[in-house]
Parts: sequence; C-alpha cells; structure tokens
Amino acid sequence: MALLRLGFARPHRLPTLPCLSPPFSCSASATVSAFHFSTEQRGWKGRESRARRRLLLGVGIPFLGQFMNMAGRGGGKSFLASAKQQSASPVEEVLKNVEWPEQFPFKQEDFQRFDESSDSVFYETPRFVTHIDDPAIAALNEYYAKVFPPSNTPGISLLDLCSSWVSHFPAGYKQDRIVGMGMNEEELKRNPVLTEYIVQDLNINPKLPFEDNSFDVITNVVSVDYLTKPIDVFKEMCRILKPGGLAIMSFSNRCFFTKAISIWTSTGDADHALIVGSYFHYAGGYEPPQAVDISPNPGRSDPMYIVYSRKVSTA
Ligand SMILES: C[S@@+](CC[C@H](N)C(=O)[O-])C[C@H]1O[C@@H](n2cnc3c(N)ncnc32)[C@H](O)[C@@H]1O
Repeated sequence: MALLRLGFARPHRLPTLPCLSPPFSCSASATVSAFHFSTEQRGWKGRESRARRRLLLGVGIPFLGQFMNMAGRGGGKSFLASAKQQSASPVEEVLKNVEWPEQFPFKQEDFQRFDESSDSVFYETPRFVTHIDDPAIAALNEYYAKVFPPSNTPGISLLDLCSSWVSHFPAGYKQDRIVGMGMNEEELKRNPVLTEYIVQDLNINPKLPFEDNSFDVITNVVSVDYLTKPIDVFKEMCRILKPGGLAIMSFSNRCFFTKAISIWTSTGDADHALIVGSYFHYAGGYEPPQAVDISPNPGRSDPMYIVYSRKVSTA
C-alpha cells in the first residue's frame, strides 16, 4: 500500500488536498500535516512541489481558467468576484453558463497519477475507516434522503461505484437491488446496504457489467478523482441508467494523493466541480450537470460537494 510504503501511518480520513490554484481555498484540518509529510518524503517542498505538479499538467490549469471566465459571465469582473456576489459557494456557480469547447479538453497526462502501480495492490488491504468526517457524512445522508427514490420502492435499482464497507445511504435505506462496485472484496462484503457486489478495476476495465437502462441512481462517493478513464466510465453509466436516471458524484477536499489524477491534485474545489461536470458533458447523453455545495460547517468540518446529472429522457 503506497501510504505505508512512504513510512507513515494510514490516516483515518483522507488527507486534504493542498490548494494550488488560488483563488479557491480548501479548509484547514489536522490531517494537512500528514499530506505535507508525504510530499517531503518524496523530497518536494513548498513552491518546488507546486512547480513540479504543474509540469504534470497539460492544458489543465490555463484551460480551467478559461472556463472560469466563461462560467462567471461577470461583465469584466473576475470569476471569483462575481461568484461571491451571487452565492456563498464558487462551487455552485462554476457549472452555470459554461460554454464547453467542442472537444474534451484534457490530455492523457492530466489523468496520470504519482503512483501508477496496480490499483489492486493499493486497495488489497481493507480499510474499515471513513474518509470524510461525521458532519460531511451526515450532509451526504441528508442529501441522498432528499433525492433518492423512497426506500423499499418496487423495481428500483441503485449502483454505488467505487464503493467500500459504507455507502453513506440514509439509515435503513433499502431497495431490492443495490449493487456496489469497488476494489476490495472484504470491504464490499461488509457493506450492509448492498444486495450484491462486484470487484472490478475501472481503470483497467471501465465496462460496467450490467444491461442497458437498468439503474435508477448511480452514486460515487469521494472517488471520482481516481478514475483514469472517466469518459469511458461516464458513457457506461449513461448506458446503464434508465432514462431520467440520476448520477450523483460527491467529493470533498481529501484524497489518496498518490492515486488521484494529476488534474485533480493540482486544482481546487470549484475546478473539481468543473472537471466532473466536463465528464458528464463529454460523455454525452446527460442533461447539463449541476453542482451543489452541501458543506455542513464551511471552514470547520470537511466540505462536501455534489455534481449530478440525469440521463436525458429521450436517450
Ligand atoms: C476513498 S475510498 C472511498 C470509498 C467509499 N466510496 C467511501 O465513501 O467510503 C476510494 C474507493 O475507490 C475505489 N476505487 C479506487 N480505484 C478504483 C478503480 N481503479 N476501480 C474501481 N474502484 C476504485 C476503491 O475501492 C475505494 O473503495
């Protein structure tokens, strides 16, 4: 496991991401020091690590900057200035009025990771931990309770991608079919909400082993940043969603840094919403993606963001 190879204890929650693309900021947290330790172990410090990471990027940073200008439509004001006037959360603004370029703008190198070893090695030991704090989990529970089909509705199927021993569904939530896909069988086996599970490395095989139009909801909690073939996965999600089916990608500002794609580790929270929004847009077959900031106590507990979309009803 990469974290252990680097010589420090596995954190109970994912380390927070550093903020490398101002003006977007991440909340401070005790686990930041764990992250800095990991970078120092690799001999990178402060500005040096920033320069190194930016070199990994292709079109990413400048391209995201262009998006910000388009999305803000601030009449000459900066994106952040206009976002501050409209909403407390830049994340909620970033997918409004985006003029997407014709072609998917990211390059192969934007999906590289520091640790390109097999994901099955990294995930072979189960982690019975939670990756976000309790208030963030509660916020996600509450959000799901609002948008999920009612518990125990006949004919409803859900799929939790990048699942583990927890799916963060509302307490007691049940359907006839709730499938989990992830990398560690021990974790999936213990997930009480799942009716079935599949172990599959989506970075090797992004094909989802389900029939067309079979799921009402697809979730993915704090893991979209590990997908190296996101467009293939999002196309597959669209194929297996029922018309009008809902895909909910949630994320915070934490990750297994060595396993997250470089475009993610080099950018901030609002950029992440834009990146996930771009996956929906360029995969095709979805309604325009939207972002929601459900952070429970901004600045005090883990932030929590949702980017969601529905499969178009005519697809
Ligand atoms: C940070 S954990 C989050 C787990 C769970 N969603 C949660 O909220 O606790 C990341 C998860 O992504 C899954 N994952 C990472 N890389 C993957 C890959 N290549 N294919 C499929 N799943 C992957 C792992 O199984 C792991 O459970």
